[in-house]
Amino acid sequence: MSQTSPPPAEIDSRALRQALGQFATGIAVVTALDTQGQPIGLTVNSFSAVSLTPPLVLWCLDNRSHNLAAFQGASHHAINILARAQEDISNRFATWPTDRFAGLKWCANLGAPVLSGCCAHFVVANETCHLSGDHSLFIGRIEHFSADAQRAPLLFHAGQYRALAENA
Ligand SMILES: Cc1cc2nc3c(=O)[nH]c(=O)nc-3n(C[C@H](O)[C@H](O)[C@H](O)COP(=O)(O)O)c2cc1C
Repeated sequence: MSQTSPPPAEIDSRALRQALGQFATGIAVVTALDTQGQPIGLTVNSFSAVSLTPPLVLWCLDNRSHNLAAFQGASHHAINILARAQEDISNRFATWPTDRFAGLKWCANLGAPVLSGCCAHFVVANETCHLSGDHSLFIGRIEHFSADAQRAPLLFHAGQYRALAENA
């Protein structure tokens, strides 16, 4: 059944979240090193390609994030595209308050933590950080990337983890 949207002043944020959740996405963990050299990161699904020439990507960070200052201060960060087998990593980077990297395999590339076992990763120079509503929009210029097309991606739709039908 189709629904018409109410006037902007009456937007119900729960209904809006539900509608936005109809846009199926992959899931990424965005990582960086803080000023003490400690790895930081969180789970996001706001990642998107922006431009091929120059190679730019974006993602959005909630302004209440504990990691906002660290991402703003880091010259580079990594966008790690999670594989179907990494649902536990998505959960830990969305919920664990501390020590999200405990027991994980990762290595620093251009100063940004790259996680093992992902479908792909992009290491980007932090080009701009633009305050937009209650989020900050980071645009990064890709300086290094790799992909493993053999690994199935972890998907997210309507508040649930999903898999490609062939990998379900
Ligand atoms: C599937 C999924 C997608 C998410 N996408 C985003 C996102 O795009 N931006 C964001 O700021 N938080 C997003 N979150 C929420 C953060 O991962 C979560 O609030 C995390 O605890 C923030 O950590 P921090 O405050 O330590 O940075 C997402 C969570 C999940 C489970």
